[in-house]
Amino acid sequence: MPNIVIIGTQWGDEGKGKIVDLLAENADIVARFQGGNNAGHTMVVEGQKFISHLVPSGILQGKHCVIGNGLVVDPAVLLKEIDYLAEKGINTGPDKLKISEKAHLIMPYHKAIDNAREQKKGDNKIGTTGRGIGPCYEDKATRRGVRFVDLIDETVFDERVRTILDEKNFYLKQYFNAPTIDPDQVIDEYKRYAERLVPYVTNVSVELDQAIHKGEQVLFEGAQGTHLDIDHGTYPFVTSSNTVSANACSGVGIGPRHIHGVLGIVKAYTTRVGAGPFPTELFDAVGDAIQEKGAEFGATTGRRRRCGWLDTVIVRNAVRLNGLTGLVITKLDVLGGQEVIKVCNAYDYKGETLSEFPTDLKIVADCKPVYESLPGWDEDIRDIRRREDLPENARRYLARVEELTETPIDIISVGPGRQETIVLNNPLT
Ligand code: IMP
Repeated sequence: MPNIVIIGTQWGDEGKGKIVDLLAENADIVARFQGGNNAGHTMVVEGQKFISHLVPSGILQGKHCVIGNGLVVDPAVLLKEIDYLAEKGINTGPDKLKISEKAHLIMPYHKAIDNAREQKKGDNKIGTTGRGIGPCYEDKATRRGVRFVDLIDETVFDERVRTILDEKNFYLKQYFNAPTIDPDQVIDEYKRYAERLVPYVTNVSVELDQAIHKGEQVLFEGAQGTHLDIDHGTYPFVTSSNTVSANACSGVGIGPRHIHGVLGIVKAYTTRVGAGPFPTELFDAVGDAIQEKGAEFGATTGRRRRCGWLDTVIVRNAVRLNGLTGLVITKLDVLGGQEVIKVCNAYDYKGETLSEFPTDLKIVADCKPVYESLPGWDEDIRDIRRREDLPENARRYLARVEELTETPIDIISVGPGRQETIVLNNPLT
């Protein structure tokens, strides 16, 4: 039975939530493998809108959901989300949702440091979501993290928090001149979280392995996008985890032979929140129109997303970095009404044509997109369910994207609703 990874090819917000929700119908388990509540997935089911930050979107389909060891989890946010979904009649109990005992906990000092750091950086800030993601991954790497397994034993947790806070408070006070954090308060607060969350904590690697051996299908749900990857993204304007498909394995504890396909989500244009390079960014009325029609505001922070034309240099980068087997084009309907649609196929760097994304951001800053112009369409396509029924110019656009990325399109999303989708090839069936 195929296990499939879904990742974003651009800078996040490609519409992964809707596609995971759609494909979850044919999966038994949906597993998240990285990131934290910096992610925000918006799904619309039967006109009802759901936003989730941590719980995999498969929960809406009643599937088993997994929060892997690769995540950093803010327990307060997770509990709020569990309650919010439960209020909407969705089962979010420990029989449906599992949390890896190795996943790291976001602590109050992570958020304090994230925000103090961004404030101190002023104009050079990354534009993080301020959720403590970076400082939490930082502690994981320096072996000062607190994991879910530590929540189980109160004495271990108590001691660990006191030792770590000693150092964090020094850093907060002396370096940032920021308020310090009271260890007793943190311990008390997290004890309350532990009471509710410990029943969810398990050895995810073992459980997934058993499920896979029973023939159950797993859908791995990526967060953010390829160009926010800590190694392969536009460093330092990136998030703190590996967002590429390979991390689906280490982020839950299974081997690569269990992965059978990788779907890359491509928004029909490009968006980015936060700072960092964006060669095809538009600063004109077209960019504003796309932003408005696409309702391009961050699901997590509500920030206005920067908008631009589709950049196939970065999508090709994502094809290679993730080993994509298929593409999912989202928000195609948003491009309707544009007389001309541009697609970037290379960069012009001081007269030289570059077909690969440069690592050096100083070079990226001097890159001008090389565009192809394609004719647009005016028709509303949200009710169309077959590729051949799309307006000719929309079909031409899709065919050109396939040519430029050398990757087939498996799914086309023509609206936010679950039904507003053209499925050409469902890799899970
Ligand atoms: P952090 O992940 O909060 O540390 O933020 C680092 C960068 O990644 C910032 O530019 C954020 O705006 C961006 N980012 C983090 N999560 C997402 C996401 O889910 N979608 C889009 N951008 C994100």
